[in-house]
Amino acid sequence: MLIRPFLSLILTCFVTISLSAGGGMWLPLLLENLNEEEMQAMGMKISAKDIYDINNSSLKDAIVHFGGFCTGEVISNQGLVLTNHHCGFGAIQSHSTLEDNVLENGFWAKNKMEEKPNAGLFVTFIERIEDVSDQVLAGVTDELSESDRDKLISGNIDALKEGYQLNKFEEVLVKPFYDGNQYFAFVTKKYTDVRLVGTPPSSIGKYGADTDNWEWPRHTGDFSLFRIYTAPDGSPADYAPENVAMTPKKHLEISMAGVKPGDFSMIFGFPGRTDQYLSAEAMRQRTEVVNPIRIGMRDKSLAVIDSAMRANPQVKIDYASKQARIANSWKKWRGESEGVATFDGIENRSAMETEYNQRLAAKPNAKQAYGNLLPEINSIIAKREEVAKARAYVSEINYNVDLFRIASVLRGQLRVADNNGIEAFTARVPRIVNYLKNFYKGYNAEIDKRVALALLPAYYEELPEQYQSQYVRDQADFAGSQSRVIQDLFNRSYLTRGDRLINLLETNPQGAVDMIKGDMAYQFVLQLNKHNETHVVDIYNEYQQRLAPLQRQYMKGLMTMFPEKRFYPDANSTLRVSYGKFEGFEGLDGKDNHYMTYLDGVIDKYVPGDYEFDLPAKLIELHEGKDYGQYATADGKLPVCVLGSNHTTGGNSGSPALDANGRLVGLNFDRTWQSTMSDVNYDPAICRNIMVDVRYVLFLIDKLGGAPHLVEEMTLVK
Ligand code: ARG
Ligand code: GLU
Repeated sequence: MLIRPFLSLILTCFVTISLSAGGGMWLPLLLENLNEEEMQAMGMKISAKDIYDINNSSLKDAIVHFGGFCTGEVISNQGLVLTNHHCGFGAIQSHSTLEDNVLENGFWAKNKMEEKPNAGLFVTFIERIEDVSDQVLAGVTDELSESDRDKLISGNIDALKEGYQLNKFEEVLVKPFYDGNQYFAFVTKKYTDVRLVGTPPSSIGKYGADTDNWEWPRHTGDFSLFRIYTAPDGSPADYAPENVAMTPKKHLEISMAGVKPGDFSMIFGFPGRTDQYLSAEAMRQRTEVVNPIRIGMRDKSLAVIDSAMRANPQVKIDYASKQARIANSWKKWRGESEGVATFDGIENRSAMETEYNQRLAAKPNAKQAYGNLLPEINSIIAKREEVAKARAYVSEINYNVDLFRIASVLRGQLRVADNNGIEAFTARVPRIVNYLKNFYKGYNAEIDKRVALALLPAYYEELPEQYQSQYVRDQADFAGSQSRVIQDLFNRSYLTRGDRLINLLETNPQGAVDMIKGDMAYQFVLQLNKHNETHVVDIYNEYQQRLAPLQRQYMKGLMTMFPEKRFYPDANSTLRVSYGKFEGFEGLDGKDNHYMTYLDGVIDKYVPGDYEFDLPAKLIELHEGKDYGQYATADGKLPVCVLGSNHTTGGNSGSPALDANGRLVGLNFDRTWQSTMSDVNYDPAICRNIMVDVRYVLFLIDKLGGAPHLVEEMTLVK
């Protein structure tokens, strides 16, 4: 009884949309009904069916979810996949040693034999998407309790999934949209033999590193190339030497024509998460309370890590990925909080809520259904604040201190021994050892200890006493001081000595289990987290559970009360299309932020030997000789990065930037400073996504990398 009205709610919302780009991340299968007209009015020359079609090949057949955390696209009929450098980073790093430093020097496979396999890496295609709201919500009524609702829905989903005839490597994912008002199923096909084909040196792929990250103007060549391999018969298969390059259903054509400001642009990929419909109060808590805590904790850990990386080239390799991961969110939260504050996100959201209440006041029936939601939501948000703060501190400790990370991983494994016996545990040892070998490869107990010394005092000093574990407090008392207990943890624990732990696991699993359980650091982390789970996380989750139905109703209320507005479902790592224009923006200072950067700008920023702004000598030579080949603009410049008004978020990294004809013109990789507020507060005047121009990508492969054979594999359109 709830479902069909909801669908018509979405559809009627679009009758009166104004024909201007206004953000949003849209479901490919709904474009024809909801967006096609607007997209074409903005200049798109293809149809919604060219983008998504289940009967014929369409652009969607060239898009992959890369490793589950980024997007990639197929750009040749031999399964070549383009994604960001920072998406391929883990793979690139894993092939790097001081002797053969792929990360630092770059790498281009001269032929398929040289392409490098990556255990664990996969890509998934979306075969088709279906609206399954009727089946998933069958029997659901407003009267059900939230837990009964959840049970019914998960039963319905199980039954639904059984109806799908799936081949090996196929899967069906069912996900909620509009806070659970609607459900879609995604049939996916996974390929697990994905090999590294090439990457520019990190000085180019990560040019500007943290200083330029999340900022404009930008000069980063943030791309890498992979290839999908299949069994000889073309079906997905795990790595095997006899596997062959994939013959894809579809690959993207590449436009060499370039783009102008105002041209239509489209981003096709897998945005991870947005929270576009938070109440003003929830937005305040996120941007003024939780973000600052997390930022402050990472200020401290990054100070330690950055100085260690600058001092030692081996540490620079070992910590590259970890540092990038920690720094990326750190800077993102800063941009988000600053954006919301500068552009009055909270005030604007409050004004919208006032209007919502006024509209409700004029409609007694609607007021009855939707009138109490905001006060109820806000009262829960207010009660949640204390645990939200504690949760932020502890999760930052767990995230930044490797000793904590590994203790938690081992805790999960010991549960197997406790619940299923030592045989079950022993059977898992090879996998555990594999994981640990990877983990300890770049582990540095000394740096890790300094991170812990920087972060743990917050636990003792910032958390209200009831959120602190008595055991953890006692340890500090016994040791005499907080820093003493941290020193002891690192000095006495076996978890900082990977080889001994691995050796024991391999020779004597029961001995290893006993040793871990008796380990001082293991116990410390265990007690801290157990207390945190019962006194903080469980409470936090209870609030979240109480919020879920309210937020779901509120979503419906918003759509009902603002029929003239466009509502797109929050991002949830499913395939979406965003569209807008290639365009710059005017900054707060009235400064015109031009939409494109060029190689000249890369060279302007060059600081020889610098940690972030060094460049390979060959690039300087190519620039001096203006040797840009077919990749230059008509006036002889080499485009590097370009801005657009597409609504994107984390996960959209590596997404193709497509032009009006659906051809590849760039590769999405970032947003501008303050744009990151778009996760909670998209503002079309400010929010811009950053793409690397495909001509720079091709230039780097061909001229810098000396791999023209790869460009020849692609379909370039003049
Ligand atoms: N900010 C971009 C994103 O969120 C790029 C991150 C990688 N670059 C870096 N300097 N850490 O993924
Ligand atoms: N760099 C982000 C990613 O890894 C995409 C940019 C963004 O968050 O806007 O997905």
